[in-house]
Amino acid sequence: MQLLFIFHTIDGTFTLAASTSNPQPWSQRFEGALHPAIATFNASISFDIALIEYDITGSQAHAQMLAQTGIISETEAEQITTGLEQIRQDYRQGNFQPGVDAEDVHFAVERRLTELIGDTGKKLHTARSRNDQVGTDIRLYLRDQIQQIQGLLHQWQTTLVELASKHVETMIPGYTHLQRAQPLSLAHHLLAYFEMAQRDQQRLSEICDRVNVSPLGLGALAGTPFPIDRQFTADQLGFGGLYANSLDGVSDRDFAIEFLCAASLIMVHLSRLAEEVIFWASEEFKFITLKDSCATGSSIMPQKKNPDVPELVRGKTGRVFGHLQGLLVLMKGLPLAYNKDLQEDKEAIFDGVNTVKACLEAMNILMSEGLEFRTARLNTAVTEDFSNATDVADYLAAKGVPFREAYNIVGQVVKVCLADGKLLKDLTLVEWQELHPQFSDDIWDAIAPQQVVAARNSIGGTGFDQVRKALARATSILSSDNA
Ligand code: ARG
Repeated sequence: MQLLFIFHTIDGTFTLAASTSNPQPWSQRFEGALHPAIATFNASISFDIALIEYDITGSQAHAQMLAQTGIISETEAEQITTGLEQIRQDYRQGNFQPGVDAEDVHFAVERRLTELIGDTGKKLHTARSRNDQVGTDIRLYLRDQIQQIQGLLHQWQTTLVELASKHVETMIPGYTHLQRAQPLSLAHHLLAYFEMAQRDQQRLSEICDRVNVSPLGLGALAGTPFPIDRQFTADQLGFGGLYANSLDGVSDRDFAIEFLCAASLIMVHLSRLAEEVIFWASEEFKFITLKDSCATGSSIMPQKKNPDVPELVRGKTGRVFGHLQGLLVLMKGLPLAYNKDLQEDKEAIFDGVNTVKACLEAMNILMSEGLEFRTARLNTAVTEDFSNATDVADYLAAKGVPFREAYNIVGQVVKVCLADGKLLKDLTLVEWQELHPQFSDDIWDAIAPQQVVAARNSIGGTGFDQVRKALARATSILSSDNA
């Protein structure tokens, strides 16, 4: 089939007696043939085939509109619609696999349609250009994919809530600067990721409004002289609005950039947790055990169990950032309106979508069934450090000592303890009272990790009561999103 590029001539005949002729729709204007390597270079069919079903749906709406406005007959529109449906079925069954000679998915479908239904197929492209067509396809694709990603995010949030509800009373050291800071409820830690995912959901919903705008009918760049009905196709395709300016509409890819930005933030969030899981699984932390279903071995070190899933998630994050950067650079120097550069948007969008989906799925499996928190170890970990030091200062401050003074006293206490190889809880009442007369025998209760966590009952804090409220809130968000 590729050879035919070389041999077609201006009058549409072929210098070689080819059995099937597949000249491009634009070939009549050309005298020379396209170099085969350039044909391949130019073609997008190898990746834009992912748009085929959206292309078909968009074309069906367009054909119906053409009939509605009297530009083609009802019978013609019906033939076109049925032919397109046949192509959809053939494609699904693996019986339609256009090659590089088709150039892109739009030509591939149009050509196949004409093969199937004859000359009527050639009427489909009336009052349309591939420029508004491809814009329509990507928007339909992205709208669909955003919904799928939102579904995956919902599952992800459900997993986080389920896990959190099992670990309200489990404590985990909280860090700042990766130094032990204050103990936390493990549920509180997990619900931080729920909140990030909730913002991701909101962002995607907002972006979807701008994805869901119809460019169909804008033509190549300037509109069309045909009496088309853009609102009709927009309604048919479920678009929420119409682009108001043809030049803008055919060359706008803001919506794709916004999507990749939202996708990048989803990846940031997954990658932060991935990083934590990686060090939680290490010998140094021992906070979790990876199950065999989500860990791999080493080819040389038999003792190892590697956290490949979170490592890959962390690693794949860079790809999505790269696509965002790629699209921004792609757009920055583009004069109005359509330029072939825009064909480069597709692989970025597709890979961004596929990567985010794959990572959400993998992290969901990892967190729901691929690891176990070592609760005994976690609850002990918070007793082995100075992460209750703030609470000693708070204790004195509550008894009227100015906080800054209290802070300095506790600094000395920590210094003494470190020198003696002791923890705060190991000090005797005499030692406490030597440091400050306000200390009495309720100090141990005040600095027990359980109490330290429980006490942080301010709104949004890690106090167990707050965490229970946060869980109830998260659960109701999930059920109202479902409604
Ligand atoms: N394959 C092309 C793309 O993805 C379709 C639009 C082509 N338009 C054109 N004027 N050559 O952008």
